[in-house]
Amino acid sequence: MKEYTIAAIPGDGIGTEVINAGVEVLKVLEKHDGGFKLHVKKYDWGSDYYRKHGIMMPEDGRDQIKDVDAIYFGSAGDPEVPDHITLWGLRLNICQPFDQYANVRPARLLPGIEGPLKGVTAYDLDWVIIRENSEGEYAGTGGRVHRDLPEEVGMDVAVFTRVGVERIQRFAMDIASSRPRKHLTLVTKSNAQRHGMVMWDDVFERVKADYPDVTTDKMLVDAMTTRMVLDPKSIDTVVATNLHADVLSDLAAALTGSLGIAPTANLNPERTFPSMFEPIHGSGFDIMGQGISNPIGSLWSAVMMLEHLGEPRAARKLMVAIEHVTAAGDVLSKDLGGNATTKEVTEAICKAICGENT
Ligand code: IPM
Ligand code: MG
Repeated sequence: MKEYTIAAIPGDGIGTEVINAGVEVLKVLEKHDGGFKLHVKKYDWGSDYYRKHGIMMPEDGRDQIKDVDAIYFGSAGDPEVPDHITLWGLRLNICQPFDQYANVRPARLLPGIEGPLKGVTAYDLDWVIIRENSEGEYAGTGGRVHRDLPEEVGMDVAVFTRVGVERIQRFAMDIASSRPRKHLTLVTKSNAQRHGMVMWDDVFERVKADYPDVTTDKMLVDAMTTRMVLDPKSIDTVVATNLHADVLSDLAAALTGSLGIAPTANLNPERTFPSMFEPIHGSGFDIMGQGISNPIGSLWSAVMMLEHLGEPRAARKLMVAIEHVTAAGDVLSKDLGGNATTKEVTEAICKAICGENT
């Protein structure tokens, strides 16, 4: 039997609720499938850890998890801790040193879910956004000088390397090539940003020559937001910078009904380091502690984790169970227009896995 070690880092806010739900569902799935065993080890890193120790995770934290098969992450963010500390202290402190440079964000209308776009069906909205996840606007380069004086200067410098740009574009080409539509849209802002973004365009010209089966087009990021709303059907796979894809993926999540369902994979495709799977919704300050968060984003992320581990049968089983529950429509969380609790949605999905209500 195959055995996998998973580092679960629930983190902050609703991250803990949805990761607990995910671990519960994974256990049911493991039992039901019978072909693999999961060893889940929980880590209490995050803002509570920060309040006690002054850091979001231990100094040797990455060493503790470097040999696991996957990381299952909730969120980092707390009303009492500045956002740049929670982000850089935990999520980016794992993502960047573990070179998880490919961030994969599927956006699809699940059965039974009506998005805000009139007349748009699941057939019309089925995208994968590939976000560059190691550099660009999140490189952390820049600084502030003359603090608090009138002449203070603050700079964030986006760093793009040819290696970084080429590897994410090739990764996106591979994803596009594996999908039925085989279409890739390159998103930049190379009219206004005339250095790094123009390099993205140049690299793309070279890369696309190696993928004759993939059709391509290019959009400026502002125009892309309009196209996502007005012509969703024309989009298949998208590749964009760290910040542009961050923004586009929130819009994509809203267009598929709720931020609460959107999953993500932070991949180190070479598998030198473990990859990390997380819902994209964040800590949800407004609903934390109420038990009403939507576990679907975390469960869909678990589907991506199972695919990465090489357990496609279990991944499929979980995705079908999620879709069964959304299609039935009677056990939905508040963000999807229902009134079910996290626990009730989780239980409904566990039942669907076991075939009790299918
Ligand atoms: C995301 C989130 C994060 C990001 C936040 C929580 C820092 O919005 O994963 O999309 O900006 O990367
Ligand atoms: Mg985001």
